[in-house]
Amino acid sequence: MILAPSLLAADFLHIGREVEMVNESDADWLHLDVMDGSFVPNISFGFPVIEAVARVSCKPLDVHLMVERPEQWIERLAACGAEFMNVHVEAVRHLHRVVEAIRSAGMRPAVTLCPATPVCMLEDIIADVDMVLLMSVNPGFGGQKFIPSTVEKIERLRSLIERTGSKALIEVDGGINRETALAVARAGADALVAGTSVFRAADPQAEAVKYAAILRPKVDVLILLSHMGDDRDMELLGKTQLFDLVIGGHNHVVLDTLINGTLLTQTG
Ligand code: DX5
Ligand code: ZN
Repeated sequence: MILAPSLLAADFLHIGREVEMVNESDADWLHLDVMDGSFVPNISFGFPVIEAVARVSCKPLDVHLMVERPEQWIERLAACGAEFMNVHVEAVRHLHRVVEAIRSAGMRPAVTLCPATPVCMLEDIIADVDMVLLMSVNPGFGGQKFIPSTVEKIERLRSLIERTGSKALIEVDGGINRETALAVARAGADALVAGTSVFRAADPQAEAVKYAAILRPKVDVLILLSHMGDDRDMELLGKTQLFDLVIGGHNHVVLDTLINGTLLTQTG
């Protein structure tokens, strides 16, 4: 599972410090939310910030353009060395042409769907993209509540990807915290964007470690510790490799047993 903290929730007075924090964390990508005040009812930041961040970020940049006519920015974004360029299907008239242009410019093309846009809109483009970004909130603001119907939408997208043999990753964006992350991961997501829950955590780096611990790649089962957080638990969780089990509460004995490979029943 890939974790992409969204810089939108960072402390903008100290962006350099925030990017360094992500560089040193277990996060995989850095997600940049660009808003134009027209496609969405908010303005965030533009190229002066993207270019400055790109110079210091060690993590691949996952750029989410919530702007009208995003195709006009392909070359400039490519010059920043962005890994992914996410464009909204709702903002592009000739999607196939734009996806090809993004790839030709050296970036990985990704298409984004608002909550009310159905998965079937992707039928004829899914083979050509490297990622689909499903919005689990209406785009424009951080800190919103996860829309529960996204879980079923992820399942529908996963079916489309399997049916067509596409290699597209599924990324989910909005209202992600360690609880919604579990539901989203189980439904078939590959990557998660998390703004508020990472940057506004008391210790953002520790939060990224906790995400990494609960979202281990290709686990058969997921482990949920509702009060995770003590160092001993994290150390033990780091050694686990299994399972198909949900545990409520934390318990060192339980974790020790888990590491020894013994199947457990649910604990209090
Ligand atoms: C919303 C943005 C999201 C946002 C996520 O328009 O696309 O990336 O920053 O923020 P949280 O995690 O706070 O919902
Ligand atoms: Zn985003």
